[in-house]
Amino acid sequence: MPPIQNVGIIGAGTMGSGIAHVFARSGFNVILCDIEQSFLDKSLTRIRTNLGREAAKGKLTSEEVELATNRIQLTTDRSKLAVADFAVEAASERFEIKSDIFRWLDAILPPKAILATNTSSISVTKLAAQTGRPTQVIGMHFFNPVPVMALVEIIRGLQTDQATFDIVRDLSIQLGKTPIEVNDSPGFVSNRVLMPLINEAAFTVMEGVATAEAVDQVFQLGMAHPMGPLTLADFIGLDVCVDILRVLHQGLGDPKYRPCPLLVRMVDAGWLGRKSGRGFYSY
Ligand SMILES: NC(=O)c1ccc[n+]([C@@H]2O[C@H](COP(=O)([O-])OP(=O)(O)OC[C@H]3O[C@@H](n4cnc5c(N)ncnc54)[C@H](O)[C@@H]3O)[C@@H](O)[C@H]2O)c1
Repeated sequence: MPPIQNVGIIGAGTMGSGIAHVFARSGFNVILCDIEQSFLDKSLTRIRTNLGREAAKGKLTSEEVELATNRIQLTTDRSKLAVADFAVEAASERFEIKSDIFRWLDAILPPKAILATNTSSISVTKLAAQTGRPTQVIGMHFFNPVPVMALVEIIRGLQTDQATFDIVRDLSIQLGKTPIEVNDSPGFVSNRVLMPLINEAAFTVMEGVATAEAVDQVFQLGMAHPMGPLTLADFIGLDVCVDILRVLHQGLGDPKYRPCPLLVRMVDAGWLGRKSGRGFYSY
């Protein structure tokens, strides 16, 4: 396969913005696609700010910031993705949304292009089955904030072939990340282990065992976690946490994954964490 030059990114939220940032910084042309121009404009502002932060730390020159920004094309028109040799889907964590995206990506992108998903929990195998190229579909799971976190969890779907895996592993290294290989299973490794911790922390607050601050301090001071589970939940987004817990609950069929009613109520109230200004803490 010729080297990857043009990368399509679908979804310009928290993760899509970070993924666009790291690809552009590494010299790839990025076509960033979302459903509304205002989301794209907001995303570009965020990317500029974060690239500027890297420049302030001496990691990039101002010229490199300018070059990286200029490599990002914003669009609400999916046909613009026809030139992409690689795509990363980073849209909302709903199977219906992602399966629709995989169907149109399959129709629009060249037959050789690899289609990756940044899903936190949805079956890569099932998304691959929406396409006519299941051997070229893979999970490429970045962590928030993408420009900072070293890990990419690479998820092999049942039909993912070795060539696809090798390309995505090498690409992750090119982006300055450390790839870790896992097989397809609900929540993979990261969220299968992390979400029950966050959920149980929410149960302790709901049951009045401790305050959110106290729960977080137990993990920071007692287990040397850089941030407590509820601060982390606010950072991830409580809606994203509930969505992932539902996927784990449904996919693994074990009641231990049922979302804590307090988390569900907070999401119903629009308290989504940092992004909405209120979650377990106020921002
Ligand atoms: N937030 C995290 O910490 C985190 C970490 C790793 C992975 N993820 C995963 O990354 C994905 C995105 O999460 P996020 O936190 O960036 O969510 P987000 O809500 O910030 O962004 C999602 C974006 O997708 C867009 N979108 C929805 N439908 C679309 C469509 N049909 N076409 C194009 N764009 C569409 C939305 O408009 C929104 O801008 C999810 O699958 C999530 O599970 C999230």
